[in-house]
Amino acid sequence: MGQATAMARVLIAGCGYVGSALGERLVADGHEVFGLKRNPVDLPEGIKPVRADLSLPETLVSLPSNIETIFYTAGAGRSDEEGYRYAYLDGMGRLLGALADLAEKPKRIFFTSSISVYDQRRGEWVDEESKAAPSNYRGDIMLMTERLLLAGEIPATVVRLGGIYGPGRDRLLRAVARGEVGVGSGELHYTNRIHLDDAAACLQHLMTVEAPADLYLGVDHEAAEESAVLRWLAGRLGVKLPELGDGEAKARVRRAGSKRCRNDRLVESGYRFQFPTFREGYEMMIRAASDKG
Ligand SMILES: NC(=O)c1ccc[n+]([C@@H]2O[C@H](COP(=O)([O-])OP(=O)(O)OC[C@H]3O[C@@H](n4cnc5c(N)ncnc54)[C@H](OP(=O)(O)O)[C@@H]3O)[C@@H](O)[C@H]2O)c1
Repeated sequence: MGQATAMARVLIAGCGYVGSALGERLVADGHEVFGLKRNPVDLPEGIKPVRADLSLPETLVSLPSNIETIFYTAGAGRSDEEGYRYAYLDGMGRLLGALADLAEKPKRIFFTSSISVYDQRRGEWVDEESKAAPSNYRGDIMLMTERLLLAGEIPATVVRLGGIYGPGRDRLLRAVARGEVGVGSGELHYTNRIHLDDAAACLQHLMTVEAPADLYLGVDHEAAEESAVLRWLAGRLGVKLPELGDGEAKARVRRAGSKRCRNDRLVESGYRFQFPTFREGYEMMIRAASDKG
């Protein structure tokens, strides 16, 4: 189980959707939290803004001093190869370079990577010991960034997150409501996700673990088959799902892969999920939307 930590100075590098939710939790725990981003105008109350670009070393010369823990939660603004390289590999490299010049080194850096580093496509079970052999630049760059961090002198922990959903990240819910996604009878397509609150809370939890591992999978308890998710959402919303042709359903598996990620290591570290499966998470979002009218 996690230990209570004393008040710490924490830097969230790339403080966006996950970083802000994490920062709010850490502020509530009494930590002093700095949120670094290029345009820090929209941070939640209590998170201290740091204006910098992780990929531009000249903007990293006056980082806050005596930072104990860093969370690297930057996300690529552009999804092309250059955008990925900029946000992850270059950003991490430049941040590590800036930290090398500091007298006081942080105790640990956490990096929110992605399960996209796994290229398994036939519904294989995947855990921290499984082979990560990406077949596209997204997974490649994530894996290179992880390796760069883990090879450095500062202790580090990588958390490979599944697809994040939650308030404001409800694309699937809206697509089902509008009849824009359908189900096919073809191959099974396993998907892995985590609710925003769990993504933030599991990082908050790992900060309290005495000697965290260097790698965790951050996914909920159910690697859900996609058509089961869509059918559940459609049932809950009272809409009918269009039927897809076999070719279209297969193309989706080819694009996104199909694997079943396990969260045992995270659970064994003492973390308890607030939204164990997509059902609890989406239920909350559907209720919140209907309360709003
Ligand atoms: N979203 C998912 O489904 C998913 C799945 C698996 C893993 N992940 C990982 O989880 C992490 C967090 O995801 P998220 O959805 O919270 O990301 P996000 O909100 O899209 O991005 C986080 C923040 O990073 C900042 N940023 C981007 N480039 C920067 C740079 N060069 N320097 C400083 N700040 C920069 C952006 O703010 P500014 O534009 O103001 O700089 C943005 O607010 C990412 O590492 C992502 O790869 C996400």
